[in-house]
Formats: sequence, C-alpha cells, structure tokens
Amino acid sequence: MSLSLIVNSNHVASAADPVTPLVDVLREELHLTGAKPVCREGFCGACMVLVDGEPKLSCLMPTALVAGCEIRTIEGLATQGQLNPIQAALEASDAVQCGMCFPGMVVSLTHLLTTRPDATRDDIRAALTGNICRCTGYERIIEATLLALVAK
Ligand code: FES
Ligand code: FES
Repeated sequence: MSLSLIVNSNHVASAADPVTPLVDVLREELHLTGAKPVCREGFCGACMVLVDGEPKLSCLMPTALVAGCEIRTIEGLATQGQLNPIQAALEASDAVQCGMCFPGMVVSLTHLLTTRPDATRDDIRAALTGNICRCTGYERIIEATLLALVAK
C-alpha cells in the first residue's frame, strides 16, 4: 500500500509502513532533512512541521494520519528563493547558533506570524514553549520575531 502525501505543495507517494513517524518519511524517503528527530518523545520541537497550517510534532505523527493533508516543512517556507519574514529576521539578527532547533523554531514562529500579527513578547514566548534551544537565551530569537512582526 502506498500513502499519498502533499509535501510543500508537491504530491508524493510513500511506501513506508503507515505507522512510520512522519519525520522519518520526510528525511529518509523524501530527503527533506530540515525537521530533526532530536528527542523523538515530543519534548524538544526540533521535528515541528505544519500540517494543514498547524504546528505538529512529526516525530509523534504516524504518516498515515497525515495522508491527504497539506504538510509544510522548513524547506517549503521560502517563496521563489525569498526567505519568509521570520527566516529573514532570524538571519539578520544573528540569532542562530548550532541551528539544531531552528527548523522547528521557524515553523512555530511562521505559524505565529501568520495567525497573530499583533503578537506580543509574551505571545512569542508562549508560541515557543514547545521549542527547546540548548544554545541561546531566546532573547535574540524574540527580538527578531518582534522585528518580523513590525516589518509585516
Ligand atoms: S524530536 Fe519531536 S519533539 Fe523532539
Ligand atoms: S541554536 Fe543550538 S539548539 Fe538552538
């Protein structure tokens, strides 16, 4: 049986077992290695992707559950080579250190910018509660997000 997926606006088929975590299908079959399987337990957020516009942990998501949904990974957030506002702001603010957490951070913050253009500093903190960064103090990430909100 093959699973029909829509990933970054492309229709693809996966031969994976239906219970295979989405993060493994993305990385191993589709070679989209942005989402990171860091903890595989739902704690770190490094595997975050958008499913029908909502942030979801792809390490906990059986792939069969998202067949037919619109899946968007970090690789699909830029448009025609242009970084989206949060990607551009994070790059400009030197907020990235090792980068392991950033695909998930960018996915969560892209969702915030899309759904809450009036987000406050506290809203940004709340949006990032599911994204663990072991390198930064989060302050540059929050400042960059505020800049992206203003620039929108
Ligand atoms: S790898 Fe999915 S939450 Fe950590
Ligand atoms: S930049 Fe290293 S874990 Fe976040």
